[in-house]
Amino acid sequence: MSIFKKKAKTERVLPTHIAIIMDGNGRWAKKRSLPRTAGHAAGSKNFKDIARYCNKIGLKYLTVYAFSTENWKRPKEEVDNIMKIFKEYLEDAKNFKDENIKVRFIGDRSVLDADIIRLMQESEDASRDATGLNLNIAINYGGRDEIVHAVKNIVDSGIAPNEITEQTITDHLYTAGQPDPDFIIRPSGEYRLSNYLIWQSAYSEYWFSDILWPDFKPKDLEKAIDDYNHRNRRFGGI
Ligand code: FPP
Repeated sequence: MSIFKKKAKTERVLPTHIAIIMDGNGRWAKKRSLPRTAGHAAGSKNFKDIARYCNKIGLKYLTVYAFSTENWKRPKEEVDNIMKIFKEYLEDAKNFKDENIKVRFIGDRSVLDADIIRLMQESEDASRDATGLNLNIAINYGGRDEIVHAVKNIVDSGIAPNEITEQTITDHLYTAGQPDPDFIIRPSGEYRLSNYLIWQSAYSEYWFSDILWPDFKPKDLEKAIDDYNHRNRRFGGI
């Protein structure tokens, strides 16, 4: 049975957890004859606007892909620029604290600069008691890397092989304790998951669009949510 069947016709259901792949910053800049760095700056500003909007409409979980384990292949100058933008975001603590947004980071932070690791920890601590949006920022994140990390922790903890269940894996991911994403949005005209939340997305609904991330506005999110309301989620049932 559809999970939407019980709602009145006019009532909209918000997904509990939306995940976004913030793609298209480079092409957005190129279209304007700007350096790619300008695209990432515009993408970062848009991320803040969309996170704030999600908090305003009462979304419970938002996960954004800021930097993947594969993004290190980019020119050093671009990687440094993304890290600089990320650091500036972290330094502006009001981004999460004053807005009642609880921020967490998913991914392998151990290889990031010490300053950034410290700021990440401080922002998680400062927003620990927030009751609004749960915001996950995926940084040096890869779905396969996350599963390897989980398996290592399971082996380390001495759990017997015949005691390992799907829930054991789920409980050892960076997203442990959080619901799986209901809805994954990828703008910019690419139709792939790019190693994003590959375990958690087993039953997610997907939404793709040609809009480049810096141009993806609340009205586009609303359109995506409307489309989500027409999906019939069966989770393998009928
Ligand atoms: C993908 O577009 C974007 C990235 C790999 C970086 C995203 C980073 C930010 C939005 C800024 C930092 C994040 C936070 C949380 C403050 P692309 O460069 O692959 O675009 P293209 O496919 O058009 O080249």
